Amino acid sequence: MWVRCLALFTAASLWTSTIAADVTVPGNETADIDSLKTWWHNTGETNYKTPVQGGNVRQSHVYLAWVKSTAESIDTYYNSFVYETIPRNGQGNIVIPGDPSSGTTTDDGVTIEAAVWITMAWTQFLYTSDAWVKISRRGSTANVTAADVIIRPSNLGLEVIDDGENNIYVFVPYSDAGVRFSVEFQDNLYTYRDSCNTTECEFVQDWVSDGPYYIPELTDDNAITGIEPRDALLIFASPPPSPTADFVPDRSVPETYVVYPGDVPVSDLASITNVNVYFMPGVHEMAATEHLMLSSSVNWRVQSKRRVSASSGEKYVYQANTAGGYTNMDSNGESLRIWSGHSTSGKQQTFTLTSWDYKQVGAFFGQTDGTTLYSGSNIHDVFYHSGDDTIKVYGSEITVRDPDGIEVIHMRYSSNGSHPSIIGANQVYEYAETETDTADPSLTVRNVTFQNIRAQGVGGNLMRIVPLTNYEGVLIENVSLEQFSVRTTGIYRSELPVWTDGSGQPISMSGFVISNFNVGGVQITQAANNHGPNDAGGLNIAYEYLADGSVTII
Ligand SMILES: *[C@@H]1O[C@H](CO)[C@@H](O)[C@H](O)[C@H]1NC(C)=O
Ligand SMILES: *[C@@H]1O[C@H](CO)[C@@H](O)[C@H](O)[C@H]1NC(C)=O
Ligand SMILES: *[C@@H]1O[C@H](CO)[C@@H](O)[C@H](O)[C@H]1NC(C)=O
Ligand SMILES: *[C@@H]1O[C@H](CO)[C@@H](O)[C@H](O)[C@H]1NC(C)=O
Ligand SMILES: *[C@@H]1O[C@H](CO)[C@@H](O)[C@H](O)[C@H]1NC(C)=O
Ligand SMILES: *[C@@H]1O[C@H](CO)[C@@H](O)[C@H](O)[C@H]1NC(C)=O
Repeated sequence: MWVRCLALFTAASLWTSTIAADVTVPGNETADIDSLKTWWHNTGETNYKTPVQGGNVRQSHVYLAWVKSTAESIDTYYNSFVYETIPRNGQGNIVIPGDPSSGTTTDDGVTIEAAVWITMAWTQFLYTSDAWVKISRRGSTANVTAADVIIRPSNLGLEVIDDGENNIYVFVPYSDAGVRFSVEFQDNLYTYRDSCNTTECEFVQDWVSDGPYYIPELTDDNAITGIEPRDALLIFASPPPSPTADFVPDRSVPETYVVYPGDVPVSDLASITNVNVYFMPGVHEMAATEHLMLSSSVNWRVQSKRRVSASSGEKYVYQANTAGGYTNMDSNGESLRIWSGHSTSGKQQTFTLTSWDYKQVGAFFGQTDGTTLYSGSNIHDVFYHSGDDTIKVYGSEITVRDPDGIEVIHMRYSSNGSHPSIIGANQVYEYAETETDTADPSLTVRNVTFQNIRAQGVGGNLMRIVPLTNYEGVLIENVSLEQFSVRTTGIYRSELPVWTDGSGQPISMSGFVISNFNVGGVQITQAANNHGPNDAGGLNIAYEYLADGSVTII
């Protein structure tokens, strides 16, 4: 009884004593208990510089993680493998798969990241009750306490404690929707700076004198355009698949084709007549010159209950072009993508994505987009760590939602030219920004709603919309942006100009409402007159739209 009261009133002592009583399992032991499932790879290779050996899985060179379920009385921390991804998979900027001598200096979207050893890591577990995640840093001599750690999105309000021995503990409440977050050690942040204070610049570094984009001394004339972990660590806690959801095919029936760990039988899978494909647990590999094209008989591809699937492009070259021998050849139609390898210009795909608890890591490269959402798609509770277009909507009746809103935790832009915005609709594939007479007033974008978006840190502006069609009924509500980079970068500025058709007839704009928009805690409204391009809001909206009330900022 006494202990209980003490616990209620002095929570800190409870934590300390909880930690003291904890056991951390030896070796590579994982949890496979009712309340917790973790994974490990004995083929983990700690190597943040070069490609990993065939059969191996890249393991974080910075972080170790363990998970404890509060549902167990034995207070045991189990290993949870921390995966790692590095720029260009350590291959350098090469063109031909597996050929280190095929290097190029053509831009592939990586600027300084490989030179300054930016890495991104994650771990993943399944849980049915609240859990603690224990994190330690390998080989670090720095003393860290809970006060040195920030969890983002910060609105999750997760409890962080330490044990005085440089181990950090994060409390992860159980959620049916899963919990996805970033653990950020404040002595492991990288400040991205531009080569200049003006609008078209690249990131620069002062670390590697013979590396790319080097300048000997960074000064205030090199605008800060982002601050992120140097070695990111993302934690993904997921509920087990619902027992009632019929997502796990029976692997003993003839309709199911079973794939065993090792080399994936790519050509067999393209011609099978089975309906299901079942990947047994373990590491499945494909060469850098092949990708999976399931036979049209296949309805689904899901791993077994209590397991999750992680796929990694570890062996591919960047922009692997499926029509060009998987060489690095940028193509919006043919470059490899996670689903549906081919995209036909001007044609709506019928591929519909319904997904939840999807996670994506590794935002080094300019073309790591989020998932493409065609008409009818519905996604929720997802985590994107992407280097380009994140939520991509192509079509109608698409829903993207998260009960707590959309949290943007890392965002950096080196240039005004890249449409650096939270919400964007642009013309770049078809027209130059000066060809303002190329709109088509026979088409209308109608009834689009964006709500509850919060961006942390230095980032882009609210919106860059080039209206190529009429706009009717757009609501942007409850958006807060923490900070812009210095104004001379131009990145802060939202754009919504007037476009016309070839005869000079402007598109029509009606019911475009921006409501409860904040920048740095200041609410931006027309009434407060702080919305303009040179004011706090940075909104460069065509004068006529504001004058006739077709766009309102309230
Ligand atoms: C444990 O896993 C590591 C990789 O992280 C591996 O190097 C080691 O050999 C494994 N130990 C055993 C006993 O398999
Ligand atoms: C960490 O703390 C220990 C014990 O207080 C101290 O001896 C050591 O110098 C500290 N290390 C660093 C890098 O500050
Ligand atoms: C660049 O930005 C910094 C920080 O705002 C400012 O102090 C400096 O004067 C600027 N330099 C130029 C050349 O604009
Ligand atoms: C658009 O929204 C309006 C107002 O809510 C509604 O009356 C109309 O049916 C919607 N149109 C479409 C195409 O969904
Ligand atoms: C927008 O924020 C306001 C004020 O915080 C809140 O009352 C409203 O419910 C929010 N809207 C939505 C759609 O959540
Ligand atoms: C930034 O880019 C936008 C869109 O390309 C352009 O309209 C604007 O003039 C640019 N701003 C600056 C300050 O260069």
